[in-house]
Amino acid sequence: MCGIIGYIGNRQAVPILVDGLKKLEYRGYDSSGVGIIPSSDEGVVVKADIRKTHGKIQNLQDLIRTKPLPQSSLGVSHTRWATHGAPNRVNAHPHADCSGRILVVHNGIIENYEQLTQALCKKGHKIISETDTEIISHLIEDAYRGNLLAAVVKAIRQLKGAFALGIISSDHPDMLIAARVGSPLIIGLGKGENFIASDVPAILDYTKRIIYLKDRQLAVLKEDGVRVYNFEGKSIRVKADKVSFKVDAVQKQGFAHFMLKEIHEQPEVLQRMIKTRLKGNKVILDGLNLNERQLKSVNKVFAVACGTAYHAGLVGKYVIEKLTGIPVSVDAASEFRYRNPIVDKKTLIIAISQSGETADTLAAVREAKTKGAKVVSICNVVGSSLVRESDGVLYTHAGPEIGVASTKAYIAQIAMLCLLALKMSSLKKFVKEKTRKKILKDLKHIPTLYRDILRNKADIARIAKKNSHFGCFLFLGRNINFPSALEGALKLKEISYIPAEGYAAGEMKHGPIALIDEYRAVVCIAPRSSVYEKMISNMQEIRARKGKIIAIATQGDEAIKTHANHVIYVPPTDELLTPLLVALPLQLIAYYIAVQLGCDVDQPRNLAKSVTVE
Ligand code: G6P
Repeated sequence: MCGIIGYIGNRQAVPILVDGLKKLEYRGYDSSGVGIIPSSDEGVVVKADIRKTHGKIQNLQDLIRTKPLPQSSLGVSHTRWATHGAPNRVNAHPHADCSGRILVVHNGIIENYEQLTQALCKKGHKIISETDTEIISHLIEDAYRGNLLAAVVKAIRQLKGAFALGIISSDHPDMLIAARVGSPLIIGLGKGENFIASDVPAILDYTKRIIYLKDRQLAVLKEDGVRVYNFEGKSIRVKADKVSFKVDAVQKQGFAHFMLKEIHEQPEVLQRMIKTRLKGNKVILDGLNLNERQLKSVNKVFAVACGTAYHAGLVGKYVIEKLTGIPVSVDAASEFRYRNPIVDKKTLIIAISQSGETADTLAAVREAKTKGAKVVSICNVVGSSLVRESDGVLYTHAGPEIGVASTKAYIAQIAMLCLLALKMSSLKKFVKEKTRKKILKDLKHIPTLYRDILRNKADIARIAKKNSHFGCFLFLGRNINFPSALEGALKLKEISYIPAEGYAAGEMKHGPIALIDEYRAVVCIAPRSSVYEKMISNMQEIRARKGKIIAIATQGDEAIKTHANHVIYVPPTDELLTPLLVALPLQLIAYYIAVQLGCDVDQPRNLAKSVTVE
């Protein structure tokens, strides 16, 4: 949700800033901008300079090509996902103070900006945008008495809300200031150059040495060093981490889209997880940070998450309840803390998040912790805010996910929930050892089955394209594949903008059946399972009303062809693992329909990959 990058060093800043923004574009892409302090000979007064525009970063690149910026080795840039104010040029970042000397880029929301705006206007400041960000540059201007750091400290102590900031001033052409509360910000340490960024991929081409700035920390970056301070202005010692990302992990590597690349990575993601988390039939959950006694004492589980991760949580509910007998509630994280959830010391909270920065998920975790619950996060991003606030973490290590529509993170979250359930069930002895072993055996086999499905992706592409003209889709599933139906519908609407609803197939007769006619497509998730016959009955009800059916079924099920217009087959596996398998065709259906309709698959309109506002 908004991406920031800042540079100070000995190279030209603008190409680094614009290139970095491209790698952060997944965080928001409705407008963007670059601000720099031009290089100058000693003693010569320089003015800050800005280029900004609406739309994607390509527009910014075009603008800079026609109106180049002066040479500079100090600058900040920003790609926006609008919260306050329309996505236009004036509201794009950076924002300047009245004098045009101080430039600010911001990710987050300043909750008391209206109050601060009034106070600043009374003092004569001219606020020209509708954003909650611009006041920050004016607050700094107001507090400035020759010491930029002191002015920034004074200004940010007045802010309420969440922010990650990059600040530069033409009075201080040797420094870049960064600060954070709530929104993510990292510092990249180079040789004779240093960086700030919202996320690692933006600076991976230049350095792998990273400082993860913590909440209520400020940093002053100079060409040759970085100092970190607390909000009282006191210097503090921090440790740099070395990230293990490979540069090609954030490149498309010949695939047309990141989404397609990430779909293809799913066999390796699972393979890697199985290799590190399974020793024979023993589940290894390093990082969980709960001993066997604590795990055994859990009598209630809450999964909290948003979007696709919420759907993974719903799958987890079925698996955990089935294998452990422990009741599981799954909450959209944005709702959790408003309903006074009944949580105590024996409650385990599983917070699921790809980014680990989703504001709603973080808020739910904080709420649960105040009530004494233990929090384990299932997270993809190492060192993220969620991880830091959890008692334990099970990393999915799926690698960077760039496509806004989540794919490999989803299957990794489900697999991790299965492993956690299997571990808990071995302690609780709720199911027979034979059952556990059978599921483990099938889980180990899933990467091979994924490769089988991907080998047939041309068939899925053909079916998807043939059905891309439908203006409305229903996705139906039962039992453990009800969440699969929700996820299939979400994927399709996210990237193709076709209205799509996911439903429990048994609920169809209570409303959605009114939608069915020859102009609707219905994706029926019907692998061989305990509810297979019931799914077939639902399919017959759809056929009777002329709805067009795409069935996802188990290989060898020839009979289903008589009930469906198209059949996509997945290999057989244990019923509890079928959501892992059906996810692939569902992702591919959405992908190929969106491509057929000419949609921007990796950067769908209005969405952002990491939602750091509530
Ligand atoms: C955004 C993304 C979704 C994602 C959700 C949760 O809405 O567009 O794809 O599922 O956030 O993100 P998280 O990082 O917490 O998994």
